[in-house]
Amino acid sequence: MATAAVLSGVDATFEVTEVDVGEPGPGEVRVRIAGTGVCHTDQVVREGSYPYEFPAVLGHEGAGVVEAVGPGVTGIEEGDHVVLSFNSCGRCRPCLSGHPAYCDDFFFLNFGGRRHDGSTAFSRSGEPVGSHFFGQSSFASTTIASSRSVVKVRDDVDLAVLGPLGCGIQTGAGTVLNALDPEPGSSVAIFGAGAVGLAGLLAAVVAGATTIVAVDLHDERLALAGELGATHTVSARRDDVVAAVDDATGGGVQYAVDTTGVPAVVRQAFDCLAAQGRLALVAAAAPGTEVSLEVGASLVKGWQVQTVVEGDAVPQDFIPRLIDLWDAGLFPFDELVRTYPFDQIDRAFADSASGETIKPVLRFD
Ligand SMILES: NC(=O)c1ccc[n+]([C@@H]2O[C@H](COP(=O)([O-])OP(=O)(O)OC[C@H]3O[C@@H](n4cnc5c(N)ncnc54)[C@H](O)[C@@H]3O)[C@@H](O)[C@H]2O)c1
Ligand SMILES: [Zn+2]
Ligand SMILES: [Zn+2]
Repeated sequence: MATAAVLSGVDATFEVTEVDVGEPGPGEVRVRIAGTGVCHTDQVVREGSYPYEFPAVLGHEGAGVVEAVGPGVTGIEEGDHVVLSFNSCGRCRPCLSGHPAYCDDFFFLNFGGRRHDGSTAFSRSGEPVGSHFFGQSSFASTTIASSRSVVKVRDDVDLAVLGPLGCGIQTGAGTVLNALDPEPGSSVAIFGAGAVGLAGLLAAVVAGATTIVAVDLHDERLALAGELGATHTVSARRDDVVAAVDDATGGGVQYAVDTTGVPAVVRQAFDCLAAQGRLALVAAAAPGTEVSLEVGASLVKGWQVQTVVEGDAVPQDFIPRLIDLWDAGLFPFDELVRTYPFDQIDRAFADSASGETIKPVLRFD
């Protein structure tokens, strides 16, 4: 049995209730969750922007302790402290070449809501309840996770707050450190100073960028961006964004990240680039969203635009490094976190939507 937040349909409120949890199957482990983050992508599924089958348990930023290991799992043992990240097959070309976020089976393995054989890990009164969201469905006190989602972490830090490293923080940090890889002394602009954007900003500091511009609608988020290392902040409400970024960077920014998914903002980010500038797009915009770009006069700029999933990270390598950076005081992602008891999940989602909390984490203890 586990206490889980079950969603019965699009836009439903979470029902915190008991569910039955099956045994870990081949390649799976059972994890007792200590804490789990709330990511905007949970909300994207809850509001129906991505097709999903209900009832289901969401949650994809879990952290906890391994309780049992299924057949064929090697290198993970009972008692291990783990962060749960996205799922991947491990066998396709992107997986084998070190880019599991672009796994050929990414959509099913992360948004399929069940195993390939159709079974689910959870049930209620004998009826199946969707599981395996991002290979983990961690809005539950105990869950079944794919071993490909499991990242072993050190056991001398507060496990509960580590969950967001599994998605939102990894996405922002990896987009900067893995995908864009700005050189020391370069300029970086972050459009949207939410959880993903601010993690990107912290990573830009780690990378040694010396001009870091944060753009957002909310003054409190811009103030926090300044505390975390932004050298310039731009209000999307008051300022002419392209002119302000141009001013801050002395004629265009070398690296930009859009976390808003708003077509007009993506266009601004593109228009802000310096020659040979690179723009990474990470927001989960609704399928069908289009952006128009000027490609006549900008031809001579040598610009690159790239979509990035999960920071193009290998979680088992990247997340332990982020924890070490955090422990060394160089990556204070916990400044973005506010914890809630698990049964306040609806409030955590509301506070995330209103902008009051940047990264809610639901705790089980
Ligand atoms: N690519 C991936 O692998 C991946 C992983 C995690 C999250 N995501 C997606 O990334 C996006 C960001 O996630 P988040 O958790 O940081 O969300 P968030 O809501 O915390 O942050 C978005 C920020 O954008 C700002 N914003 C909105 N409109 C703006 C505008 N017109 N101009 C400037 N700023 C504006 C908001 O004020 C907010 O601070 C979401 O779409 C999420 O689903 C993608
Ligand atoms: Zn794969
Ligand atoms: Zn996420």
